[in-house]
Amino acid sequence: MKVLVVGKGGREHAIACALKKSEKISKLYCAPGNGGTEQIATNVNICELDNEKMVEFILKEKINFVVVTPDNPLANGMVDAIEKVGVPCFGPSKEAAKIESSKIFAKELMSENNIPTAKYEVFENYEKAIEYLKLENKYPTVIKADGLALGKGVTVAQNFEQASEAAYNILEKNKFGQNNKKILIEEYLEGIEASVLCFCDGNTIKPMISCMDHKRIFDGDKGPNTGGMGAVAPNPAYTEEIAKICENKIYRKTIEAMKKRKTPFSGCLYIGLMLTKIGPKVVEYNCRFGDPETQAILPLLKTDLFSIMMAIKNKELEKINIEFEKKCCTSLILASKGYPEEYEKGFEITFKSQNEDAHIYSNGTILKNSKLITNGGRVLCVSCTANTLKESIEKAYKAAENIQFSNMYYRKDIGKKALEILEN
Ligand code: AMP
Ligand code: GLY
Repeated sequence: MKVLVVGKGGREHAIACALKKSEKISKLYCAPGNGGTEQIATNVNICELDNEKMVEFILKEKINFVVVTPDNPLANGMVDAIEKVGVPCFGPSKEAAKIESSKIFAKELMSENNIPTAKYEVFENYEKAIEYLKLENKYPTVIKADGLALGKGVTVAQNFEQASEAAYNILEKNKFGQNNKKILIEEYLEGIEASVLCFCDGNTIKPMISCMDHKRIFDGDKGPNTGGMGAVAPNPAYTEEIAKICENKIYRKTIEAMKKRKTPFSGCLYIGLMLTKIGPKVVEYNCRFGDPETQAILPLLKTDLFSIMMAIKNKELEKINIEFEKKCCTSLILASKGYPEEYEKGFEITFKSQNEDAHIYSNGTILKNSKLITNGGRVLCVSCTANTLKESIEKAYKAAENIQFSNMYYRKDIGKKALEILEN
């Protein structure tokens, strides 16, 4: 079969690597792809938001199966456009993708179905938001833009000044655009975060191995939020007992609720959890695989990823047995200094020696004259598996020492919190 992966990040590179192992696939394409995907597949220079051109290519090349994973194309209805011409496509419809593209939609879904989450209020008017903040006067508090905002739409405000500034920027200054002018003011949840990615076919939901992301740019969870600076799987705080609670109170209820509103969720549902003292609560849903979670999860997946995706399209997820290695994996992001703000790109990436024991995924690279060049804020993701978490962390850092490019920056404490949980 000819398969096309839409996207250009490390997540897509990791998915392409996993698909490449499938005997069922004869040819693999990525659109637009990056320097890493170009080394294992055929890159096609089509913008991931151009539904029309993508469909045209799919028909011309007689592609048999498409995988769409980034948030914007999903919110933009790419899956609907591809399926309309009769080609099966992994990923949620535009309506189902609203679970990520509108935080208000997600919150309403949770309230209506008694799914545990932070308390919230919605505001369109700046003065009303300020009135509410003064009345509540509880910090930290969380201000969120309703729509997609490149991972920058959330402010955990420590005081009134920070909260009112965040509200002002969205409601009065259109920071995230004319169509993204509503905010949520949310109760701050305390606890350990866990990301659980789940395969879904509209009826059945099967969680993958759990994960812990590290969203802040600096060590010790300091500085602004990023797309994610590294992840470990499994997440030691996500015990079997918590998993059972989540399955009953969150996962199944979410999938049932989406089915009930006639927008069944098919694809990968990412559930961002806060493990609070009074139980797990949903922080957010994403309608797709996470990055860098995917790079920490897929190296542990034993079952053929393409067979799982096909089973999902055939609504047969229930029948397939999904197995993970009983090991640990650490994914470490190597970024450009300055990210998530301004940074330079265009630097050559060199490897001191072969990294045989590490998966090196490209998040933001291009290939020029067979040389890998930096082309993004997050540049590479190094993933290593091992029998213990400690070992997988050590391996990832050792592999990173083998890699060089100008202005390289990475966190030095990926997995530290997880190790502390294990030790206590
Ligand atoms: P989101 O884009 O909704 O995942 O939010 C980004 C990050 O902000 C999360 O991973 C959390 O670290 C933090 N966050 C979001 N909502 C809350 C909340 N209600 N309480 C505490 N932290 C939150
Ligand atoms: N790592 C968080 C995300 O993919 O949204």
